[in-house]
Amino acid sequence: MTTKIAVIGLGTIAQEHVKAYQKNPGAEVVALCDIDIERVKQRAEQFGVPRATGNVDEILADSEIDAVSICVPNNLHAQIAEAALRAGKDVLVEKPMSVSVAEAESLVKATTETGQALQIGYVRRYAPNALVAKRFLDEDEFGKIYAARTTILRTAGNPGGWFGDKDVAGGGPLIDLGVHVVDLCWYLMGQPAAVAVSGATFDPIGARDNIQNLSRYRAASATRVNNVEDYATAQIRFDGGAVLNVDVSYSLHTRNETAVQLFGEKGGVEIEPALHMVTERHDTLLHIEPQIDSLGFDFTVGFANQIENFLRICRREIPADAPAEHGLEMARMLTAIYESAATGSEVKIIH
Ligand SMILES: NC(=O)c1ccc[n+]([C@@H]2O[C@H](COP(=O)([O-])OP(=O)(O)OC[C@H]3O[C@@H](n4cnc5c(N)ncnc54)[C@H](O)[C@@H]3O)[C@@H](O)[C@H]2O)c1
Repeated sequence: MTTKIAVIGLGTIAQEHVKAYQKNPGAEVVALCDIDIERVKQRAEQFGVPRATGNVDEILADSEIDAVSICVPNNLHAQIAEAALRAGKDVLVEKPMSVSVAEAESLVKATTETGQALQIGYVRRYAPNALVAKRFLDEDEFGKIYAARTTILRTAGNPGGWFGDKDVAGGGPLIDLGVHVVDLCWYLMGQPAAVAVSGATFDPIGARDNIQNLSRYRAASATRVNNVEDYATAQIRFDGGAVLNVDVSYSLHTRNETAVQLFGEKGGVEIEPALHMVTERHDTLLHIEPQIDSLGFDFTVGFANQIENFLRICRREIPADAPAEHGLEMARMLTAIYESAATGSEVKIIH
């Protein structure tokens, strides 16, 4: 069975969606949609997709289309995702699923009422290093996980465009980069309920558009205001006592650093920068380096796996495994961190 796909929002990341679908025999990309008509026509030509439109409603009304990938700016995710679910489409929505708790609650309700699948584009979960770590965690190799630590520190990594506009992006590196690695830790920790957060944000440096001779990820849209944080740091406390420490930046006087580490009673596992396990046997410390093709985050393989997983969900072979409920818990955590940063005190999370 071939799942007929439309991709909505044809900026930078959407091209990875189109490429991954086109490499998968289970999918056919039948339409592209973007409010920028010139851009969507150009992408349709580039990828050989038969239809290009500027009208989302036209996509949602088309009964030939089974599922959509939503790759628009963050503040539009929830409204387009909900309209798509209610139009009978399955949805792969880029991260973050929503910019507010209320939107996330509405999406949980919409998936329940429609029976359609919503899957969040948490690509890091589907990279081989994370899949191997998950298998070892599921087999209880590391014992109870009581703490985790994650960082994505970028010296000059603000993508510009709408990413710097809080009203559109919902925030800065915390909601853009942090969402990936907070999710990865939370998912691998077994999705515990968050009970409290303490966070702080800082913005003394800005977007660093002056920096030369250094490439970075860039949004396709033109740069406007930059009113998001440069740096966010937080501790999330979970039901059962485990904690997650997170540090993320777009602009910081540091070297770039990525880390995802889980600490358990019998052992520990680092997923990034490279899969690595640490344990103890017979009074001896062991460092274990799994022999897999890519110990680091393999974006291409992760994206292909994410798309294959979504197509299996569309075919009802498996249920959504990054569903709206996961997006709701993320919205609770991230909005509480921003609230804690604004008030200077710990914020309790009420479910
Ligand atoms: N999974 C990942 O690793 C990853 C990486 C980068 C970006 N993202 C996410 O993907 C999304 C898009 O990011 P991007 O970098 O591609 O942004 P972008 O600015 O390059 O592209 C966004 C596109 O959406 C279009 N658009 C805006 N409003 C629209 C509307 N109402 N209807 C249809 N199209 C509309 C714009 O014209 C633009 O072409 C964001 O949510 C971002 O967080 C995910």
